Order: sequence, then structure tokens, then C-alpha cells
Amino acid sequence: MEKKDIDWGNLSFAYMQTDQRYVSNYKDGAWDEGTMTGDANVVMSECAGVLQYSQSCFEGLKAYTTEDGRIVTFRPDLNAERMENSAVRLQMPVFPKERFLDAVDQVVAANAAYVPPYGSGATFYLRPYMFGSNPVIGVKPADEYQFRMFGTPVGPYFKGGAKPITIKVCDYDRAAPHGTGHIKAGLNYAMSLYAITLAHEEGYDENMYLDAATRTKVEETGGANFLFVTKDNRVVTPKSDTILPSITRRSLMYVAKEYLGLETEEREVHVDELNEFAECGLCGTAAVISPVGKIVDHGKEICLPSGMKDMGPVTRKLYDTLTGIQMGRLEAPKGWIREI
Ligand code: PLP
Ligand code: COI
Repeated sequence: MEKKDIDWGNLSFAYMQTDQRYVSNYKDGAWDEGTMTGDANVVMSECAGVLQYSQSCFEGLKAYTTEDGRIVTFRPDLNAERMENSAVRLQMPVFPKERFLDAVDQVVAANAAYVPPYGSGATFYLRPYMFGSNPVIGVKPADEYQFRMFGTPVGPYFKGGAKPITIKVCDYDRAAPHGTGHIKAGLNYAMSLYAITLAHEEGYDENMYLDAATRTKVEETGGANFLFVTKDNRVVTPKSDTILPSITRRSLMYVAKEYLGLETEEREVHVDELNEFAECGLCGTAAVISPVGKIVDHGKEICLPSGMKDMGPVTRKLYDTLTGIQMGRLEAPKGWIREI
């Protein structure tokens, strides 16, 4: 397969239209058989449920070229399961897991020319999503839905790749108790746009959201979970019912324990213990692990001992091991890699 003429090494995390995407429609209580299409545009009613009341959810996962030239995806079954949970919480029909996985295979195979080569630093990001498509004017779930999946080659989520970033403790909340913080609803991201724009204007790369009920506990950022490393090398991640259960985080906690022999803790993390950690990172499909060098809490600077120059040593090991598994340099736990 001849690759497209793309400057892989200089890609940022941005959309590039690729050749083929998958689409399936839900009507009269059933999904149609689904098809690939070259049409990148969606045409729907001006009153579609998604346009009026934001009934939409999405996923994010990546395809990688391995060292020996295969194309693989990383734990897509978990994206299918999380999208099922999102759909149920938003009163949307579930797109079946087997069909989700088949769509992943089809989209990657049809756009193989856009899957970045091994060692380029870029990856192929897949974006499955679903939305209410028929007219809805009273507040209620739509009757018809569209599931789509496209792919786009991407570079690092944060400019500068592995360079540590600076984040601020945010005064806005991301998710309410018993709300939708634990699912991947488009609405969670819409409500974070004001806060992230403000953070960027103030010179920060990201927001640290706190729990809405007490505003004393660390939740996550707008698009990634937190990992902390203690001074005695334990890997800690916040436990909360109102954060997105990151697949990257679950994988890294396993890697920390089973590959690196580190102790791991999923527990509440209080803002006033932030100055006790040695390293901090943001983990997610887009973020991979992006190191945090500084956290600013209302003017109070918390400088991580790992500094602003490079990833801390434990973050680096976690990063190398996870990406080693994804790129086929290290043996993966059973079921983690799906070959296209
Ligand atoms: N938290 C939020 C709010 C996200 O949008 C994402 C991205 O998907 C994550 C965490 C990380 O999740 P994952 O590792 O499954 O990509
Ligand atoms: C992902 O990591 O896949 C996400 O959806 C996060 C988003 C900020 C790009």
C-alpha cells in the first residue's frame, strides 16, 4: 500500500479528511447494515436531536504501524464498551460491539495509506460517534440515529510532544455528582470550551478540574485523566465516579504493576497533597502521557520535582512501555492488540 505524501513528523493533533468513513443509520428500532462512504459531509434536519439538545456521544482510539510493518489497534473492545455505556446514559440505541470492531477494521483498512509509518511519531486517530438525527422539538430522545467513524493521521496533542506543560486549577466544574462525567458525551466537552479558552488566554496549557461537590479533590482535565508518581515511586490515579474511565489509564496502571513492578493506587487525591508528588502526567488516547511540570492553584505554584525540561523517570518508563506495546516492540497482554 503506497502511503500518501504527508509530512508525518510535523503533524499536529488536527483533522485531515481521509478517503473513506463508515456510516450506519438507526431507524424503526434497528441499525441498517452499515456501509463505507467517500462522503465526508452529514446532511440532516435543521431540527435534528443533536442540533437542538446535544444528544451525541463519541470515542477516540488509535491505529499504529508496528516495528514489523503490521497495522494494529489498541484495545478497541474497551472503546466499544464505553460507547455502549455512553449510549445507555444518553437514551441512545447501543451500536453492537462486534459491529463497532468491524467498523474499526474497515475504516483503518480503507485508509491504510493515511496510517503513519512506524517511527514517524504520528498515529492514526479513529473517531467513532453517534447522534440523534431526526427532528426533535419537545425535550425527548430522538427516534433515529447515525453512527459514524472516520480516521485522521495525528501528531502530539500538546505542542512540543514530550515537553512538560503547565496547568491551572479550574474555577469551573466539568461534571456534577450523578451527572455525565463518566461517559463520553459531546456535551461534557461543549461545557469545557469556555474554561479552556480562558486557561489558554492566561497562558496555561490545560485545566485541572476538581470535584464539583467539595472542590477539594482532583478529577481530570478536559480530555485526559491524571497519573501521579509519589517520591517513593508509587503510581497514583484519582478515583472518582465523575471522571471518564480512561482506557490509557487502565492500561498504564496494569503496565506499572505487571511490567515495571511498581505499586499502584487508585484513590481520592486531594489538592493539598499535590506538592508531595514527584511526577504528574496526563493520560489518554490523544495525550498518551503528557508530563505536567507545573500546577498553579490560584496563584500558588506547585512545581513538580521532575521539572519543565523533560518527563520524569517513571513517566518516561510508563510511556516507553505503553508505546512499546502499541508499536509491537514489547509483548502485549492477551487481547490488547487487534491486528487489521
Ligand atoms: N478523560 C477525558 C475527559 C477524555 O476525553 C479522554 C479521552 O478519551 C480521557 C480521559 C482518556 O481516555 P482514553 O485513555 O480512553 O482515551
Ligand atoms: C481522546 O483522547 O481520544 C479524546 O477524545 C480526548 C480529546 C481531548 C481529543
